Amino acid sequence: MLVVADTPRGALSRAVHPRWWGDRPRRYHRPVSMPTVSLQDDFTHVPDLPRDVRSVLELAARSMFQLFADTVEGMMLVDRQGKVVWISEGYKQFLPALGFQDESEFVGHAVEEVVPNTLMREVIATGRPILVDLLTNKAGTFLVSRIPLRDDRGEVIGALGMVLMAHPESTMQPLMKKFARLQRELDDARKQLAEQRRPKYTFASFIGSSPQVMEVKRQARRVAQTDSTVLLLGETGTGKELLAHAIHAASSRAGRPFIGVNIAAIPETLLEAEFFGVAPGAYTGADRKGRDGKFKLADGGTLFLDEIGDMPLALQAKLLRALQEQEIEPLGSNQVLKVDVRVIAATSRDLPQLVAEGKFREDLYYRLNVVPIRLPSLRERLGDLEALVEFLGEDISRRSGMPHRDVAPDAFEVLRAHPWRGNIRELRNVLEQVTMLTDDLRLEARHFRRALATPESPLQPPVELSPASATAAEGAGAPGAPAVRPLGEAVAEVERQAIQAALNATGGNKQAAARLLKISRATLYEKLAQYGPVPWPPAGGR
Ligand SMILES: Nc1ncnc2c1ncn2[C@@H]1O[C@H](COP(=O)(O)OP(=O)(O)O)[C@@H](O)[C@H]1O
Ligand SMILES: [Mg+2]
Repeated sequence: MLVVADTPRGALSRAVHPRWWGDRPRRYHRPVSMPTVSLQDDFTHVPDLPRDVRSVLELAARSMFQLFADTVEGMMLVDRQGKVVWISEGYKQFLPALGFQDESEFVGHAVEEVVPNTLMREVIATGRPILVDLLTNKAGTFLVSRIPLRDDRGEVIGALGMVLMAHPESTMQPLMKKFARLQRELDDARKQLAEQRRPKYTFASFIGSSPQVMEVKRQARRVAQTDSTVLLLGETGTGKELLAHAIHAASSRAGRPFIGVNIAAIPETLLEAEFFGVAPGAYTGADRKGRDGKFKLADGGTLFLDEIGDMPLALQAKLLRALQEQEIEPLGSNQVLKVDVRVIAATSRDLPQLVAEGKFREDLYYRLNVVPIRLPSLRERLGDLEALVEFLGEDISRRSGMPHRDVAPDAFEVLRAHPWRGNIRELRNVLEQVTMLTDDLRLEARHFRRALATPESPLQPPVELSPASATAAEGAGAPGAPAVRPLGEAVAEVERQAIQAALNATGGNKQAAARLLKISRATLYEKLAQYGPVPWPPAGGR
């Protein structure tokens, strides 16, 4: 044990006690080439640094100690046992507030007995400094610093405590104010971000008042109050994604992210990384830093898994685990991450059929099918047609800046007779097309007849000619007399048109388009890569 009072020449005392080096004559090494200067004689001369490292370090330590002793509010030394062995003159100002009249009541006592809440003992035990800390006790709040003291062999022999600033809450006002302002700005930015991420759709934006729609909304409202997995079933374009947004918006997770993944739109090889993320260093190159997956991004919020029926079997097992355990394992990582995600899945496919064919895991199906909600097709709810046309027409004119169009009663007859395989999405596309094609303020039956021709009715003109084919036809001269072209080119053109028509019919949904074309999704992606992206939505004015 080491006590300054008992052994004034002890290591602790020698290392730091100000009186010790204040009293001693200074021993500076005299540089060979420099004129002799005696510090004691003349303080106006700048002294030279001593030549050996040890002396330089000693000097530095002393200077630093002196600096602290002069500038801080108070200092104390404790020995290895945590007993206070010395306090600076400055420190004495705190004694009354700590409940002591005299230094002798303080020095010699265990530090935590005289300074409530101190962490000096922790510094001695761990040998690690606590460079900046706020200490609060009955004497007030102090900005403090604690440093372990070591002997020549590196053993901790005590600790030095410094009160850098008393009552920092008043002294540090400007800093605190700035901090508070930054904190406020951060809060505002966070709010704005949450605002932007907030779902754009609510139940009110799900248009329709037919009994079928009212039932769907009733079920959706009820499930919004829970954390259950939801399965939205229905043909493409019936509003599954819209409803998923609305459920999220009405749930307690509304303030957290809504993240959507269209499984059919992502190449199979990328799906796993997309879902579960990539651990840092798993790959070289661009992904070296790692990447969060959609599950992680949706943490605390809602994850919308669109076209779940297109999920590859291999990934289904991993998804099931993520759903059951609420934990994920990023690619290239051997650690699991806890997540808190509500899943809303959607599909236009017949899941029980896929299960029967062995293409969809039965256990995953049951896990997803906890609360199934079936969205009616537009054919089943033609009573909502007028409200939908009104709403969509309004939306189209607002977004395009074009005037609003009235729809004539005879036009509704045409609309009601159409099969609407693409449902509301198709209705929207048709309205958009017709609006682009005419300046008439009243849309009549004739306007719609042309737009409603489907790729399945070969005798009617195609819904869509790609810009490329339009140019080719013009260049060919008289209609009906196409120019002779290399067969490969002509075939490619026809393929391109067919793909465009399929994408039109499915509103850009590639999986559904591939099914219409009776080709695999992979083949469709190949062709898209070959021909360049087929524009969707198609440029207006066709
Ligand atoms: N009930 C509805 N009211 C208004 N718009 C709708 C409704 N249902 C679908 N839509 C619109 O139709 C389009 C397709 O809807 P979406 O939710 O993507 O369908 P799905 O996911 O079932 O294919 C979107 O533009 C959507 O806003
Ligand atoms: Mg969809």
